[in-house]
Amino acid sequence: MKHLVFLTGAGMSAESGISTFRDAGGLWENYDVMKVASIEGWEEDPELVQQFYNDRRAQLAKVEPNKGHILIAGLENAFKVSVVTQNVDNLHERAGSSDVTHLHGELTKACNERKTQIQHIGFNPIRPGEKAEDGSRLRPFIVWFGEAVPLIEKAAEIVSKADMVVIIGTSMQVYPAAGLIRYARRGIPVFLIDPNDVPAPGNVFVIKEKASTGMEILKEKLTQIQ
Ligand code: OAD
Repeated sequence: MKHLVFLTGAGMSAESGISTFRDAGGLWENYDVMKVASIEGWEEDPELVQQFYNDRRAQLAKVEPNKGHILIAGLENAFKVSVVTQNVDNLHERAGSSDVTHLHGELTKACNERKTQIQHIGFNPIRPGEKAEDGSRLRPFIVWFGEAVPLIEKAAEIVSKADMVVIIGTSMQVYPAAGLIRYARRGIPVFLIDPNDVPAPGNVFVIKEKASTGMEILKEKLTQIQ
């Protein structure tokens, strides 16, 4: 079976109704990223940070995977499919994808300050003052700016084994995620699905469409090469 690797970002979930970060009207226009998504922000105002992620989690409960997520999951009938996502939502899993690596953490999980104890919290809020098992503050299981990205090596390994890579809905501005494509074997096809212009790395087939339409086009192409 050919191994398809999808590298997805916020644009993947845009059609489900989740805001991207850097588009016009995106989250970072309304929030100061360093206040709500950095380790410094957490130290300065943990309640603001908790509220930000509690809101994201509550919103996630109200949205559904879109056609793009569903088409990716459906490809598991004919391919080995791995998803490496920067998204903290669980829409790939809810669409049926079985191999999803979350580089930037997961909204439906919480952890202790040292990130050694992880617990499922579903769509529930973390309450002010709530403690983890080890007595430290319970916090969202999210990779904030200023923190390590522990799954980056696993992700690089996945990309290095790909027979094809498809990048969907990421502005490719946040490293180390944006550098993952460099681990792809030379000469394999790389597709990029995004309705806007993104700095495309090297030889990339650009499908300038939203995730759902782009995935329909890609699926057509895949039935030809399968
Ligand atoms: P961005 O908001 O930076 O980029 C979103 C991308 O999605 C842009 O290239 C848009 O053109 C594209 N897009 C918009 N609508 C789309 C649609 N319907 N279909 C497909 N693409 C669409 O989001 P990311 O690149 O994911 O990290 O951002 C990376 C990281 O920055 C996030 O994981 C988050 C953020 O700060 C942390 O918070 C640690």
